Amino acid sequence: MITPSIHREMILPRIVVLATSNPGKVREITAILGDLSIRIKTLRDFSDFPHVVEDGKTLEENAVKKAREIYLQTGIPTLADDSGLEVFALAMRPGVFSARYAGEKVSYEDNNRKLLGELKSVSIEKRGAQFRCAAALVGDDFEEVSAGICRGTITTELRGTGGFGYDPLFVPEGFDQTFAELPIDVKNRMSHRARAFLRMKTILRDRLRIPS
Ligand code: IMP
Repeated sequence: MITPSIHREMILPRIVVLATSNPGKVREITAILGDLSIRIKTLRDFSDFPHVVEDGKTLEENAVKKAREIYLQTGIPTLADDSGLEVFALAMRPGVFSARYAGEKVSYEDNNRKLLGELKSVSIEKRGAQFRCAAALVGDDFEEVSAGICRGTITTELRGTGGFGYDPLFVPEGFDQTFAELPIDVKNRMSHRARAFLRMKTILRDRLRIPS
């Protein structure tokens, strides 16, 4: 005989909060997690969430901080991510400072201009870089992190109109076009975020006991 609580666990999808209100990220991450039996809520489903200050020294710290703060307020297992661009010739900068590389409250254009300026005298062979994403899951008695990397090269000029951020300057390995020139579904299959959240899928299944 199945007790009501076990029965509930078997038929009701788990609720998970995705700690972002960025519609692009929500689309990308819900697509990756689409075949898991979970219901995803985003910060838009709640009112009055304070902005979590991303002041960690690493992408991992920021992702865990965001997930932890939202979990503490909702009591619902929470996913968060933080990502950035690491340029090898710049000793992995801008990294965790990717959003504010050219200063506080700057535009993507400002950041791209600064990057082109810093790499002005760097030859094409030495313009290797990677996007890195840290995804975190925080729940009752666990904190888990998964990472994803996408390697490529920084171009010498802006190319393409798709995507966001550094996409017009980043050519992923194995391609000639930038992320801003490639179709979004191509980017979403191999991006740093896709890779981090694919790994996170296994962790979610395990931690939330989601049936396969
Ligand atoms: P976030 O905090 O994860 O949104 O990312 C911080 C910054 O990294 C963004 O403001 C972008 O400049 C950059 N970034 C992260 N992911 C991407 C991407 O997929 N393409 C281009 N830039 C990105």
